[in-house]
Amino acid sequence: MNLIDTINTDYLPKHIAIIMDGNGRWAKQKGLLRSIGHENGTKSVRETVESSAQLGVENLTLYAFSTENWNRPKLEVQTLMKLLVSSLKKEIKTLQENDIRLQAIGCLESLPKKAHKELLEVIEKTKDNKRMCLTLALSYGSREELINTIKQISLKVKNNIISIENIDESVINEHLYTQNLPDVDLLIRTSGEQRISNFLLWQIAYAEFYFTKVLWPDFTKEHLYEAIIEYQKRERRFGKTSEQLH
Ligand code: IPE
Ligand code: IPE
Ligand code: MG
Repeated sequence: MNLIDTINTDYLPKHIAIIMDGNGRWAKQKGLLRSIGHENGTKSVRETVESSAQLGVENLTLYAFSTENWNRPKLEVQTLMKLLVSSLKKEIKTLQENDIRLQAIGCLESLPKKAHKELLEVIEKTKDNKRMCLTLALSYGSREELINTIKQISLKVKNNIISIENIDESVINEHLYTQNLPDVDLLIRTSGEQRISNFLLWQIAYAEFYFTKVLWPDFTKEHLYEAIIEYQKRERRFGKTSEQLH
């Protein structure tokens, strides 16, 4: 039996988020430049996006560039931004063919003009696609997102649009970059690191974590299936006892 046949498609995570890590180490192991690692990482992105959509996953969020990643050497940042532009140009076809809508979260204004423009174009072109929502986290930092949220809500309180008593989880959700997305069900991180690196801190409150040693450029659809199969074996109790669930 194929791995994919063991997946219960009636119980898929509604939202998968991935910290795509290990491009640099992948390249180093092969004696190659880090940029080659990033380039090969884009193949894994395509395979993951396509196979998620084909499986029936409704939301996929990929951590592509963090607010902290601006601190990398200038040349590496430039390479990553160039790769973003070329991938967007190339992959618009994949998105259209698979009926995937693209959106982005993060401080998008801080992206280079060309990347920002290309991104907005692909977002616009795919806005009516229905099968899956692909969210790219770009220049994204969860703390920055939360600060932004607090500022927006505070302003509304100040202007009497919201009263303090009415601030609840849904008000906060509506002011996050991820406003239209459900909570993360499954969080995957590749490369063996077991940390969150400032990713979706609020949204992963009850996510199942899946860490794998596989480096991102080696990540294939089979690895994705393995993560989903593992997710489906877990009992999500949300504070209740196991007996209450059965
Ligand atoms: C992930 O791979 C890509 C980005 C963070 C942009 P890394 O570049 O972090 O790879 P390692 O962690 O150095 O191996
Ligand atoms: C996290 O990876 C960010 C992305 C995958 C885009 P990093 O490789 O930057 O994370 P740290 O700094 O090692 O935690
Ligand atoms: Mg890394």
